[in-house]
Amino acid sequence: MFSNKIRNFVIIAHIDHGKSTLADRFLEYTHTIDKRKMKSQYLDQLELERERGITIKMAPVTMKFLARDGEEYSLNLIDTPGHSDFSYEVSRALEAVEGAVLLVDATQGVQAQTLANFFSAKKAGIKIIGVLNKIDLINSFGEKAADSAKGELAEVLGCGREEIMCVSGKTGEGVPGLLEKIVQVIPPPEKSDSAPFKGKALIFDSFYDNHKGVVASVRIFGGEFRADGEIKMARAGTRTKIKETGKFFPEMKPLDILRDGDIGYVATGIKDPEKIKIGDTAFFVDSGGVQSEDCVKFALHGYEEPKPVIFVSFFPEEASEYDFLRKALQKLKLNDSSISTEPDNNEVLGRGFKVGCLGRLHFEITAERLRREFQIGVINTFPSVKYLVKSKRGEMIEVVKPDDLPADYLEISEPMIDIVLIFPNRFLSGVLSLRKKFRFSEVHTETIGDRIKLSSKMPLVELVSDFDDCLKSVSEGYASFSYNVCGYEKTDIARVDFLVSGKAITGLIRFLPKDSLEREARKTVEKLTALLPKQQYTQPIQAVAYGRVIARADITATRKELGNFGKNGGDRTRKMKLWKKQKKGKERLKERADTSIPPEIFKELLKKE
Ligand code: GTP
Repeated sequence: MFSNKIRNFVIIAHIDHGKSTLADRFLEYTHTIDKRKMKSQYLDQLELERERGITIKMAPVTMKFLARDGEEYSLNLIDTPGHSDFSYEVSRALEAVEGAVLLVDATQGVQAQTLANFFSAKKAGIKIIGVLNKIDLINSFGEKAADSAKGELAEVLGCGREEIMCVSGKTGEGVPGLLEKIVQVIPPPEKSDSAPFKGKALIFDSFYDNHKGVVASVRIFGGEFRADGEIKMARAGTRTKIKETGKFFPEMKPLDILRDGDIGYVATGIKDPEKIKIGDTAFFVDSGGVQSEDCVKFALHGYEEPKPVIFVSFFPEEASEYDFLRKALQKLKLNDSSISTEPDNNEVLGRGFKVGCLGRLHFEITAERLRREFQIGVINTFPSVKYLVKSKRGEMIEVVKPDDLPADYLEISEPMIDIVLIFPNRFLSGVLSLRKKFRFSEVHTETIGDRIKLSSKMPLVELVSDFDDCLKSVSEGYASFSYNVCGYEKTDIARVDFLVSGKAITGLIRFLPKDSLEREARKTVEKLTALLPKQQYTQPIQAVAYGRVIARADITATRKELGNFGKNGGDRTRKMKLWKKQKKGKERLKERADTSIPPEIFKELLKKE
């Protein structure tokens, strides 16, 4: 039975503009969550999401809404993350819905990710409702700012200002009106045909449940899925008996049937995540054979695989924890399909994994989750990007780790991004002062209201350094940015090794631009001198490139009193003996000198200042 009382939609916005808080009010107003059980940012289930106040993973929820027309509607909302690193999550959610609430913070106006999200929603061809949020702050913040934010949003959407809805996710003001608007303007799902199958669905997300195995979040595009049948995946080819079907309220609630247009889940019982691919089409089959050709022929177009762009190698602090790390990464991948992993090996650190992430924040979150959710002590290398190296024989090789750079090569290319920055006019010179440091090229500016939109190209690797912090400091936190990886450009870089007490620190090998090689190497050496703990002996720090030392400095030894030898310095022979003993001890210590450095030092080293 087909229902036109379904509305599927996402909330999209720039980071911190209030998506999760607005979702909270929706949950409350529709009585999906009991007021007593309500906690803020309810849909952010990960501990890390709640602590950092950011959404990392999309979260679907079904709400029942009694509209003014007296009809009950089934509202399927997908809350999405705001940061650029997670735009893949947003793009997937957009394929599963017919509408979007584009939220703009009244005190901030249109930001870089507002635009990026708007263009993605437009590309997906869905209905977009412009909403100004945080209107409870207008009194303290000023009518004028809110008014220009409204004007900017109307300009982006190409609609009249009167069409922009005004709400407060905090107080709930305007929220019932917005729910009515969603029902009125977002179209119900179109009836789809699933023939020759009984049901057809897009897998837009998946996660792992200890009892139910891999659970696929699905949008039904034709027919129905029953809990007592089987599913067959179009591309992965997997066929399995369904363990459970249901919807998110937002907790999983089993239901016997999912119908055309619904958003819900299919629990597969499958333990191997490789057998379920996000973006794949699931067909419902209740019995009998299935033609493989049909699976391919009738599959939905799905998604492009995400391409990791930042790579970091993780090694367990204790070699014996290798298997533990392997399993932890496997589990993490079950809930975050955009992570890529491959085994890595290192002379000093032993066996580990090279992990690919979608950006710097994604890498930080991944490292943090490993530490937190699995209590694994890991040593990681410098985050790197994938360089393309042309060898003398004309072959193209991909190089992520500086150790893999061939001794002789013709040229190196590095990944570039198209970056968009939005900030108030007065910060233009400050933002432009970053141009050289972060290698901006092809800079274009245009105005949006009384702010500037600056588009430029920048090497991706610059994002790994402290670009965010520098941008914040030159714009007093008013600038926002979004980016897309856009191809490769020739570059000139060299491998630099850093030695502590004559020993190369594996994680510290890095690529540095040739034109600032010595300056950058010197800076790193100075930072290491300041950051590494003192030992009982002097530790020379050296930077080595092309087989020669290009920078060096010493970490002086901690001074340890030789003991109390009386007023006159005590017995000289005894003193000498003790000194010799201590010297021997220091030599031993030096031999064992730690070949790894604490992770927090990496962060400091990545800063450009
Ligand atoms: P990401 O998921 O990280 O992109 O953030 P988000 O867009 O989900 O924003 P979130 O709901 O986490 O809100 C960000 C901050 O704004 C929080 O401190 C909220 O309490 C606050 N906030 C959200 N909505 C309102 C509002 O209507 N009024 C006021 N005063 N504060 C709000």
